[in-house]
Amino acid sequence: MTPLRVLTGITTTGTPHLGNYVGAIRPAVAASLNAGTESFYFLADYHALIKCEDPLRIQRSTLEIAASWLAAGLNPEQVFFYRQSDIPEIPELTWLLTCVTGKGLLNRAHAYKAAVDKNTAAGSDPDSDVTAGLFMYPVLMAADILMFKSHKIPVGRDQIQHIEMARDMASSFNHLYGEHFVLPEAAIEESVATLPGLDGRKMSKSYDNTIPLFAPREQLRKLIMGIVTDSRAPGEPKDTEGSALFQVYQAFAGTEETAALRQAYADGIAWGDAKQALFERIEREVAPMRERYEALIAHPDRIEATLLAGADKARQRSAPFMRELRQAVGLRALDQRAGARAAAPDKAALPAFKQYREKDGQFYFKLVDPKGLVLLHSTGYASPRDAGQAIARLQTEGEAALAGLAGHLAPVPGVAPADVAQALQRLLDAAAT
Ligand code: TRP
Repeated sequence: MTPLRVLTGITTTGTPHLGNYVGAIRPAVAASLNAGTESFYFLADYHALIKCEDPLRIQRSTLEIAASWLAAGLNPEQVFFYRQSDIPEIPELTWLLTCVTGKGLLNRAHAYKAAVDKNTAAGSDPDSDVTAGLFMYPVLMAADILMFKSHKIPVGRDQIQHIEMARDMASSFNHLYGEHFVLPEAAIEESVATLPGLDGRKMSKSYDNTIPLFAPREQLRKLIMGIVTDSRAPGEPKDTEGSALFQVYQAFAGTEETAALRQAYADGIAWGDAKQALFERIEREVAPMRERYEALIAHPDRIEATLLAGADKARQRSAPFMRELRQAVGLRALDQRAGARAAAPDKAALPAFKQYREKDGQFYFKLVDPKGLVLLHSTGYASPRDAGQAIARLQTEGEAALAGLAGHLAPVPGVAPADVAQALQRLLDAAAT
């Protein structure tokens, strides 16, 4: 059985806060323990360069995020935990994907469009202050995802479009060069809380309302005392609905503890006491992690070694896959016989469809056996989509599709119809397993 591969990237531009912990770190560490899954967590430092031009901050954030995940219990032996910039195959794949991605697709990316809309509203040039890095953000992210054949990508809602774009790029590539990529899906965890921040809005760096995950104890207490409440006096019943304090408590406490605080609200607990209860509850969960965090941060060399070991492990996947992809697109040794397939270990023994365009501007496909021998040719199609649909029919129906497509197929001299039928059957069998 293929394991379910789950992958998430964390952009290295900030210091982890309680919202990151509750929304991403804690559920990810828990999920990494699931049997039958392979988890990939990486520090998206190439992505960080798009938003941040402060080298010290990039470096510091990478250290803090790595230390936070390890302190929160991520076991680097059990998962793939690496730094994006340690995987040279990622930028290499980014280029291959760039070449199959419509510029129009990227024009529609939310982040880019928002920047353009803002410029337009201000009467500036639409692309004013927009780097090509921002424009290319979705392609780099698709490379992260597709490189490791990830199935599920746990992300926030704002990232769904990026996952859909990665799917689009994977399909375009597969369509042109054969089935190399797995089509990924966004996994939106509804039950995971989004934490309110100090001012009651979603806890986020951009609102400047965060509580750092590993703030020293006294600072944590002070910050919690600063969470907004209403002006009800001690003894007055309080609403749990819309209470940021209550929501944060709930994200850390069990059902019974939460029920007890709900009762205390109804009984008119003083805000100061409620905040003290929240502080103690968070401190109980965070204190042991904070101790590990501080020990880790004091030894950046050890974290560096952990990340390099993680990169080694990840590259055992990415390096051979990149060789397969280079081969697929024609970046090949010159003495290799043209048309010969990549020695992709799991597919080498199967026939394959190849799509291509001729000088006449039309779109064609052929069916090639594992040794590179052509078994079947199509005649020209007006669009790659039509050719793709014909291939899809042959892939799903096998020999039965031949009659219906006869007008668009050109038998190859010397190839027996039975060989074609057998090749199609082998594809069907392979697809069924
Ligand atoms: N864009 C993601 C974010 O801002 C970070 C990221 C980079 C990512 N590459 C990824 C997330 C690949 C999931 C998969 O949150």
